[in-house]
Amino acid sequence: MLVDARGLESTTNVPYVIDSLNIFVEALLSYGIEGTKIFQGVEAEPTSVIANTHAAAYWLYLESPEGFRKAKPYLDAAAGNLHQVNEREQLYFQAIEFWYNGEIDKAIQHHQTIAQQYPRDIASAKICQYHYFNLGNSEGLLEIAQKVFAANTDLSYMYSMLAFGLEQCGYLPEAEDAARQAIAMNRGDAAAHHALAHVFDTQGRLEEGIEFMESHADTWETCCSFIYTHNWWHTALYYLDLEQHDQVLNIYDQHLWKRWKEYSQDLAGAISTLWRLELRGVNVGDCWHEPASYAVNRMQEQYLPFLDLHYIYALARMGWKDKVEEMYENMSTHAAKVKPCVRQIWTEITVPAARGLVAHGQRDYQTALKELEPIQDRMQMIGGSHAQRDVFQQTYLDTLVQAGHLNQAIEQLEGRVQQRGNIPATYRTLATVHAQLGQTDQAQAAQARAAQLTAL
Ligand SMILES: [Fe+2]
Repeated sequence: MLVDARGLESTTNVPYVIDSLNIFVEALLSYGIEGTKIFQGVEAEPTSVIANTHAAAYWLYLESPEGFRKAKPYLDAAAGNLHQVNEREQLYFQAIEFWYNGEIDKAIQHHQTIAQQYPRDIASAKICQYHYFNLGNSEGLLEIAQKVFAANTDLSYMYSMLAFGLEQCGYLPEAEDAARQAIAMNRGDAAAHHALAHVFDTQGRLEEGIEFMESHADTWETCCSFIYTHNWWHTALYYLDLEQHDQVLNIYDQHLWKRWKEYSQDLAGAISTLWRLELRGVNVGDCWHEPASYAVNRMQEQYLPFLDLHYIYALARMGWKDKVEEMYENMSTHAAKVKPCVRQIWTEITVPAARGLVAHGQRDYQTALKELEPIQDRMQMIGGSHAQRDVFQQTYLDTLVQAGHLNQAIEQLEGRVQQRGNIPATYRTLATVHAQLGQTDQAQAAQARAAQLTAL
């Protein structure tokens, strides 16, 4: 039995295995690229349960059938040696096995038990946060971070995990404090940059967001593709709200859609950016073609509702009706047989959302409205962050406008003004809708506010 960098006992007598565990955990928390060291740990001791289980987790993060296929032999190797390891390692193995089997509720239960009994196991808590994130469970994101917080205050990554949970729960000043604490401890904590990016976005602090993100972007160069592209995606969103569309497209070309086009989250980020540009009236030309082509390769995945909805929207925007139909069939089939813990999310929300979003992508606004309206208040269950899901909300708003449901559109727009009162596009849409309703004074006031903001 040896002890790792977190002071946790691991069933091995091979120091190299411990080194590989430490490097893997650091990479997981920092979004680094050294996580592959875990495979050398497995080579050093092929019977190691903890090394094999981490290796399986590494592959599951790929969010693709290939990842699941590659995870399986490591899970099998770990399963064959479970009898000889400690309780924490057994719980962790079971958590990752439940992840593999799609029983996310049970995976979470196991991570929660680990957090309770072994709070120094921050890697387990980090994976638990990932599951809560994918379920759109903001409270869970915060709760699991709070549960292990006191035991891990030596790590900047603990503060960034807490910051993200706080932000998603709406505790914005507290989230900012925690993120800044993480950055004070470790300037290169990309997860803290990310949490702070959300605070800036939610509060409409656009110029500040750009300044902060671009002055820390140098540290993302050595990060994994996810945080590199995702942090640039957040940066692009500020430019989008400032209506500097050339800058958005520049970031898209230079950073967002460049690194690892086969990766799920990079693809979703690229699609999300084009989608949002179009919602702002920008002609993105033939930009859709490439991401849509990558989405075609993922039509049968059905790994996460959030991802599938992005993929199918890209197909719809290309006008590939047969592919849209095929993917929609795949999603419906999957919804009927998926594990009970997420079945309702698939059947009641994801499948209707796919129909509605596709209809919007095909500019059939009446169908889009019929499908999207009944599920609006449950879209959080699709997963992802508030900022990511805002593309669905913007699409619903656009649907209301295009379908002529103007009073409802005004309600939505006023809600957006309340949340972020400095976005010119919101006022411009408000002006258009008021004008269509013959409300000249309100239309002029909204137009003036948009002009004032644009001139700033
Ligand atoms: Fe984010």
